[in-house]
Amino acid sequence: MSSRDVWGEWLTERGELRRQRGTERFDAILRQGRDDGLLDLASNDYLGLAQDERVVAAAREALGHYGTSASASRLVTGTLPVHRELESALARLTGQPTGLVFSTGYAANLGVLTALTGRGAQILLDAHAHASLHDAARMSRVPYATFAHNDPVALDAALAERAGSRVVVAVESIYSVLGDAAPLLELASVCDRHGALLVVDEAHGVGVAGAGRGLVRELGLAGDPRVVVTATLSKALGSQGGAVLAPAAIRDHLVNTARSFIFDTGLAPASAAAALAAVRIVEAEPGLAGRVRANAAAISAAFGTEQAAGAVQSVPMPDADTAVAACLDLRAQGVLVGCFRPPSVPDGVSRLRVTARADLSPAEVQEATRQIRAVVHRAQDVIA
Ligand SMILES: Cc1ncc(COP(=O)(O)O)c(C=O)c1O
Repeated sequence: MSSRDVWGEWLTERGELRRQRGTERFDAILRQGRDDGLLDLASNDYLGLAQDERVVAAAREALGHYGTSASASRLVTGTLPVHRELESALARLTGQPTGLVFSTGYAANLGVLTALTGRGAQILLDAHAHASLHDAARMSRVPYATFAHNDPVALDAALAERAGSRVVVAVESIYSVLGDAAPLLELASVCDRHGALLVVDEAHGVGVAGAGRGLVRELGLAGDPRVVVTATLSKALGSQGGAVLAPAAIRDHLVNTARSFIFDTGLAPASAAAALAAVRIVEAEPGLAGRVRANAAAISAAFGTEQAAGAVQSVPMPDADTAVAACLDLRAQGVLVGCFRPPSVPDGVSRLRVTARADLSPAEVQEATRQIRAVVHRAQDVIA
């Protein structure tokens, strides 16, 4: 007698639900490689450094020197000289006392929130905080809640309700979907008044804000012992990996207790070397961040939308299906743009995600926005 296919039924039912809700995701191959001739306004390579010959050469050299893998946890034999060099360079770039490199930005966020909480602690997240911060809060197994997006008054009230607890507050410096900047000075001052620790995820700030050194440093908060920065190496730094930038005592605590650092293989040496070369370029060429701003201004002007604080500009679309169809249509014409739609949008509005990369020429931005505008208008006409 054959048993009922419980798993098959469950998977079919979940797939059907996703189709009904319009939330199906795809991992289609949209790019073929560096020379595929596509105009890329979709990736997170904000400064074009993933394609920069100096960065590629640094990765190649590290492959020759170290091989392909760190081959062990950082606490076994996985800590290599290139990790230390990268940690110092990241700390120098962002103006923080020390750095600790993780295998991804996701792992850095998991590590920092889980290790800094524990008994007697609570977590408050900005309502628009990245999924990795929400997952980290869940994994921390301490009470957590959200406060209204970018609202220092709401944070003040939430902290007042938690007087007596050790509270970690987590926000982003520049938000990945809406592209707005956090009022970090106000949030830091509220945290300071309540003795809370402020964790700022600079995934979209490093390389882009403050001449590439991030928003925390631009606002004079770098080195504040109550402010911890997390970052990813996979966006403006053109590599892979993540980092926590914090006072030495916090770094030491993370090395001893952050499970996503301890029970994880160290960052691949080629990725560390690529990120190190990228940090040096960001330091030497502060104008790169200015080119992102200039392209962002041109993109937002072309769509009559407000310029976002970072590299990602968004173009609202009527619905999720139209947004996906527009992306595929543009891909067929050689232009890559991203797509944000529920459940990944905090306000429920589907949008095209258009990245103002520094290495796009004004002519390329003009050509891409012309094509995007034509596709968006066509989509709107069909709906009307
Ligand atoms: C705000 C934010 N934090 C963290 C991450 C995770 O970084 P990584 O891709 O390096 O894991 C991302 C990337 O998607 C992000 O946008």
